[in-house]
Amino acid sequence: MLNLLAVLAAYLIGSLSFAVIVSKFYGMDDPRTYGSGNPGATNVLRSGKKKAAALTLVGDALKGLAAVWLARALQDSLGLGDATVAAVAVAALVGHMWPVFFSFKGGKGVATALGVLLALSWPVALVCALVWLVMAFGFKVSSLAALAATAVSPVAAYFLMPHPSWVWATLIIALLVLFRHQSNIRNLLSGKEGKIGEKTE
Ligand code: G3P
Repeated sequence: MLNLLAVLAAYLIGSLSFAVIVSKFYGMDDPRTYGSGNPGATNVLRSGKKKAAALTLVGDALKGLAAVWLARALQDSLGLGDATVAAVAVAALVGHMWPVFFSFKGGKGVATALGVLLALSWPVALVCALVWLVMAFGFKVSSLAALAATAVSPVAAYFLMPHPSWVWATLIIALLVLFRHQSNIRNLLSGKEGKIGEKTE
């Protein structure tokens, strides 16, 4: 029962879409109505509001971090197994992608995945963040950087994570992130994917 509650709590934390919350706070348009339509930091940046984009990035990453960190912190006292922590990690991503508070229209999960990985294994998160940064500075395309970091994540997890169930969680998260990037992959293949920060109007 406690295991289920932990997973449900992670889903609810993940459902806090910071792109929508931050945009509302600043009186901006809902990010699901412009650009790529994705409620994420990259799309909020297309509005030209850098501070809102940064807050979205930090908020989405922190919620992933908080969900897994909480489960790990309470692991012994609540008797949660490592597999439950893995399920919590996936649930936070599912919440972000299909949020109960926002009509199930969520984001692509890159920032939240980074936060989740940070709480599972900071070396894995570091490897992925470095891959993202190198690709982002090299090609200036957010989705390409995200896809590269996502592809590397299960490999890094395999070598650096202590529990097999966490490696499986990382693989599932990577597949979910890839699944949510279908339109980006199509745009990349047809040369239509925009650069970071390019406004849509
Ligand atoms: O983090 C999301 C990014 O990889 C792609 O976002 O808005 O360009 O589809 P977007």
